[in-house]
Amino acid sequence: MECIGVHLPVLPAEVLELLRPAGGDLIVDCTVGAAGHAEAMLDATGGKGRLIGIDLDEKSLAISKQKLARFGDRVRLFSGSFSDIRDVLAETGETSADVILADLGLSSVQLDDPQRGFSFSFDGPLDMRINCREGKTAAELVHDLTEKDLADLIFQFGDERFSRRIAHAIVDKRKVEPIERTARLAEIVSGAIPAVAKRTRRGVHPATRTFMALRIAVNDEMGQLDQLLEALPEALSAGGRAGVISFHSLEDRRVKLAFREMKQAGIANILTKKPVTAGDQEIYRNNRSRSAKLRVIERIS
Ligand SMILES: C[S@@+](CC[C@H](N)C(=O)[O-])C[C@H]1O[C@@H](n2cnc3c(N)ncnc32)[C@H](O)[C@@H]1O
Repeated sequence: MECIGVHLPVLPAEVLELLRPAGGDLIVDCTVGAAGHAEAMLDATGGKGRLIGIDLDEKSLAISKQKLARFGDRVRLFSGSFSDIRDVLAETGETSADVILADLGLSSVQLDDPQRGFSFSFDGPLDMRINCREGKTAAELVHDLTEKDLADLIFQFGDERFSRRIAHAIVDKRKVEPIERTARLAEIVSGAIPAVAKRTRRGVHPATRTFMALRIAVNDEMGQLDQLLEALPEALSAGGRAGVISFHSLEDRRVKLAFREMKQAGIANILTKKPVTAGDQEIYRNNRSRSAKLRVIERIS
């Protein structure tokens, strides 16, 4: 059912129901991507709302620009990281927003593009940078890190029990020639995992966890998320709502703890006691939604 290269926003109805964009609200979409959520949120304001869209990826911003053109100057798009949300607000002459959404990770458009190097399903350069203009690529990381640091990274961000064997195989193979393609890395990782373990990971590619770990490290995804969570209380107007959609437990744990701290500090109320997840119908239509978790807070006046 899933279409390659097309991104379907996850939990679209739940986002609108909990974030309640309306009237002349100022919305910040921290990860505007292919603008599915942004378009729906602006429509929900009946054409009166304004939206600031942020994304690290120029190609995603180009898609958003086209998709949101009909809203004219109600939309402003910024190239950069959501960790700089306060600076972006200041640049537009605002101090806080009524609605903030962060839909973490990558869009299907990015994942399905072999040239971006995110996926072991397509052969391409081992890049994995969301912002293609700066930072080390995954190939450089795989080339530069010590065996111990590689093993720690794969274990910490990928929760991969065979991290040491994988790191050893990578270091062994890179002595012969640099690992510069996704298919080559996937082959090395697969070869390092015992056959019996591969059989028990039914349907899950053996390189899944290693690729996820490298992507998180290349883009400092946990550091960026921590900075956003720290900035949220100040960036959110009194009575405003903020939602974060995460796709793996490392992210969700951070969001859960940060929201709990805001509640304990009397800054916000938590609107989602448990994270909101996709129903069977949505998972059938959009397989990516199977691991999505939405948590929402409301800023106390
Ligand atoms: C899951 S997609 C968002 C899809 C979007 N909600 C939609 O409906 O089309 C995540 C987006 O976040 C962007 N992104 C990832 N990390 C970011 C960061 N630190 N700052 C800004 N954007 C980021 C990615 O480039 C990607 O376009």
